[in-house]
Amino acid sequence: DHGYGPDIDHVLLSEEQIQDKITELAGQIAQDYAGREVLLVGVLKGAVLFMSDFARALQLPTQMEFMAVSSYGSATSSSGVVRILKDLDRDIADKHVLVLEDIIDSGLTLSWLLKNLGSRRPASLEVCTLLRKPDAVKVDVPVRYIGFDIPNEFVVGYGLDYAERYRDLPYIATLKPEVYSS
Ligand code: PRP
Ligand code: MN
Ligand code: MG
Repeated sequence: DHGYGPDIDHVLLSEEQIQDKITELAGQIAQDYAGREVLLVGVLKGAVLFMSDFARALQLPTQMEFMAVSSYGSATSSSGVVRILKDLDRDIADKHVLVLEDIIDSGLTLSWLLKNLGSRRPASLEVCTLLRKPDAVKVDVPVRYIGFDIPNEFVVGYGLDYAERYRDLPYIATLKPEVYSS
């Protein structure tokens, strides 16, 4: 557990559950995109682990791009303010773009991102998110592929951070309350 053991309250999704879901999503998406080249757009930094495992599971030729936006800062809830920290390196016009996110919480990040990417005239634009919190949604975002719907609690691991820590955990977990107060 990378030495994080004492901070973990409970494991919500195990490494095996996550990897099985990625295999399932990749299978579905390989069928839906058969014959097309997919441009994966990973949303830094949270989606890095998901992108890495998903790209390997997807039996299709893919290109990878990354974009960094931030809505949380280092707190545990969305501010609604989306900042662009790193843009794509190339044009996505006429590409089949699949945005990969680790989590949709309020939906504010993705809602902004989809408008932004949509204005660049991709051939198609869809979203695949590993996690979604249905009870936290403030803006409805059209999401084609969803790994897990989870309860409205703060979770870390598998790319998700609390104050930049815990991203390297291979599973998704909640933290003990005392971690937030210290
Ligand atoms: C987190 C998460 C999503 C977004 C979801 O990213 O990775 O990208 O917030 O929140 P929302 O649906 O309420 O907008 P964050 O801004 O913390 O940046 P990070 O990926 O670098 O941790
Ligand atoms: Mn993120
Ligand atoms: Mg974050």
